[in-house]
Amino acid sequence: MVKVGEIEFPPRKVWLKTYGCQMNYHDTERILSHLSNLNFTKTEEQSEADLVIFNTCAVRDLANKKFYSHLGETKRLKTDPGVDPETGLKKNVVIAAGGCIAQTEGKELLEKYKQLDFAFGTDVIDNIGEMVYRTYAGERKFSVTTWDRSENYSIETKLTHGSPLAFVNIIKGCDKFCSYCIVPFTRGREKSRRLAEVVTDVRRLVEYSGIQEVMLLGQNVNSFGKDNGESLAQLLLELDAIEGLERIRYTTSHPYDVTDELVEAHGTAKKLANHLHLPVQSGSNTVLQRMLREYTVEHYLGLLAKMRKANPELVVTTDIIAGFPNETEEEHRATLRLLDEAQFDFIYGYAFSTRKGTKAARMSDVLTDDIRGRRLREILAKQMKIQENLRGQMVGKTYRVLVEEKGSAKGVLKWTGRTSCHRLVHFEPAEAQKDYLWHWVDVEITSATALSLQANLIRDLGKKP
Ligand code: SAM
Ligand code: SF4
Ligand code: F3S
Repeated sequence: MVKVGEIEFPPRKVWLKTYGCQMNYHDTERILSHLSNLNFTKTEEQSEADLVIFNTCAVRDLANKKFYSHLGETKRLKTDPGVDPETGLKKNVVIAAGGCIAQTEGKELLEKYKQLDFAFGTDVIDNIGEMVYRTYAGERKFSVTTWDRSENYSIETKLTHGSPLAFVNIIKGCDKFCSYCIVPFTRGREKSRRLAEVVTDVRRLVEYSGIQEVMLLGQNVNSFGKDNGESLAQLLLELDAIEGLERIRYTTSHPYDVTDELVEAHGTAKKLANHLHLPVQSGSNTVLQRMLREYTVEHYLGLLAKMRKANPELVVTTDIIAGFPNETEEEHRATLRLLDEAQFDFIYGYAFSTRKGTKAARMSDVLTDDIRGRRLREILAKQMKIQENLRGQMVGKTYRVLVEEKGSAKGVLKWTGRTSCHRLVHFEPAEAQKDYLWHWVDVEITSATALSLQANLIRDLGKKP
């Protein structure tokens, strides 16, 4: 039993569902870490839960719809509360919704979904303990969507798992206001952590929590430190010097803010992964203009050339939106041409989705869902061919991977690891019983398709490379 103030917290279970980007997944990890102080442990079974939390995403209509439907289904948790197996008493389930939809629609959600007890936005994640406390003190139907007005963004990374990988927030919010995007409305203004704080945080994770790989997170990590006279490139170089840290990744970056200093860091920071996710969104300059992306296709391709010169091993992935309002066939074909020129290793492709409150939502638009769907399929089909060719070139080469999971394919036991260039590789173990989880291994690629790589195990280096 844990006692906080006047309230006793017996052991309870929380069920969490996360939608959206890595920032949201990391927020969920923070939520879980705070709730462990109130005696909550995680359950995978919603029916077992005392507390149900949805961490929502508003980036496309589909994300909203999925959440509304899942929330709708929770009504039965209140009408048929079941029996707590430990206490034998009828369960009194608390249901909460946080994240990007809750930030802008918190009050409406509470009104529409009677079973929802509270809603919380993206900037109050670290106050979740207080909100849960309020519900157990008897309060219901409240919404907390305030913005943190303090000048600094200062946090400590929370871990809830035993893996050597950690997500580390370095900047929050987004000031870019791309015309199609809801994120600046759901995540607020950009604010960076101080460089020294991040370095101390990562050093602590490496020394005391066995972290070997960090993923630096933000909607636009390339803006990191702008207000403090600091930069992402400086941060990468400082992290590169931390003994025991093996790999550094970052996501997501905006092409407008890629500096020469950052390009150089891709050559000099030896721990920086051979992977860059640099969303391009469209291969047409006129569409990029309407998207308010502030760069041209030529500028983007110039950046790729410089980055690949700095690190010839670099693998680039991107995001593309098909069917931006009034996109012409010619503008669409420019995106198909860009795929040939850029040689992306993978693309996250999306059909444009209208987001209320954004500039693009106010554009009158002649395109239909069918046109958008067809264009997206054309983009993805072309990319599959490019990918197959690029991955075919890996056959016969050796890569170091960090093993992430065990699985089986057609009855054969296989382990899966990720290369520095972020590709997943499957290999058969040398000994069936051996546990390779979080081992570093060298593998030789034996076959490749557009979406998967098979390999032979060459060397097992154990948990430290
Ligand atoms: N901050 C990143 C950037 O600047 O590219 C990513 C932001 S968003 C979370 C991830 C991706 O969703 C975007 O890169 C974009 O391709 C896509 N996206 C955002 N808004 C969209 C919309 N209204 N319709 C379709 N796709 C959208
Ligand atoms: Fe959205 Fe643009 Fe900000 Fe990315 S940079 S989060 S696409 S507004
Ligand atoms: Fe979605 Fe919010 Fe991330 S809208 S993509 S969860 S920042």
